[in-house]
Amino acid sequence: MIKPWSATVFAAKVIEYYHTHGRKHLPWQNTQDPYRIWLSEIMLQQTQVTTVIPYFERFVASFPTLTDLAQASDDQVMQHWSGLGYYSRARNLHKAARIIENEHDGQFPRDPEVIETLPGIGRSTAGAIASFAFGQATAILDGNVKRVLARCYAIEGWPGNGKVLKALWERAEANTPKQETAAYNQAMMDLGAVVCARSKPNCQSCPLSGHCLAYHNGNVDQYPGKKPKKARPSKSVYWLISINQDKVMLHKRPPSGIWGGLWALPEVEQEEMSPGDIQQLEAFVHKFSHYDLKVQPLILGSQAEKALVEKNSHPSIMEPAQADWFSQSQLSEIGLPTPVSKLLSKLLESS
Ligand code: ADE
Repeated sequence: MIKPWSATVFAAKVIEYYHTHGRKHLPWQNTQDPYRIWLSEIMLQQTQVTTVIPYFERFVASFPTLTDLAQASDDQVMQHWSGLGYYSRARNLHKAARIIENEHDGQFPRDPEVIETLPGIGRSTAGAIASFAFGQATAILDGNVKRVLARCYAIEGWPGNGKVLKALWERAEANTPKQETAAYNQAMMDLGAVVCARSKPNCQSCPLSGHCLAYHNGNVDQYPGKKPKKARPSKSVYWLISINQDKVMLHKRPPSGIWGGLWALPEVEQEEMSPGDIQQLEAFVHKFSHYDLKVQPLILGSQAEKALVEKNSHPSIMEPAQADWFSQSQLSEIGLPTPVSKLLSKLLESS
């Protein structure tokens, strides 16, 4: 087992990467204007650098200062965001500009805790702005940085989990240097985007691979941990089969919902009735994209059983638009859901 990077050597490696490979000529760099830095960070939250550049340039050409933005109309602002997506970013940006104008004398706040109170700005974006615009030693933790830290220090689990996020922030805080914080933060974002990519990371050219725990364990792809999958939802139903003189009773399903407008066997939720000793056929599962339909077919033999079902489940049988009896040859002429058609052909074959 190798030792992980100490915080100081880690930071030195990252800053060195900034000086040798970091991006330094983007339109929002080489400025200390908090308005431009803020705008770029918001645009970059969910959008790649190459897409952002022309939007950023048009935006600052139309609204060169925070005051211009605060005084612009909603429509003007939205028009400049049009095509960039995630439009709540633009609405929050506009709202925040007005708050800064009205409540902070038009001065962008310097305290990261105050920055974070503005609409659309979370802890990481506040840290980025405070470091880039005001040279403060604030940590950042966006998706790219989470990936770098999770891999390097083998921090397990899904970052959406509170404990995992806390561990990542602790590591981010510990590794963020007091000097050259802006260079460090910019390089962490660039490393995460360019080298420590989500898929096919380029570990060969990574300045951190020497003591990256995931790299040495050969399981880089396991970090950060994935969101735990929810159990697939399922619904359990009975399908009621009544056969009378070689004809089977079908209901036409209502136009909306699954199999809308198709003829199918009358269906009742299993919670709604007890089958007693009604003959049960082999149960099966039909998979929809979002849930499993667990079907227990029941053959209703006697009039008594039909009456029982009618009595017990009448309120919960899906209200059919129509009900009718069909012979085997008629079945091929109407629209049936595949599992109904399979079930009936097996049944009618064997009878
Ligand atoms: N993503 C968010 N902020 C960024 C920045 N300053 N540079 C590159 N990617 C980013």
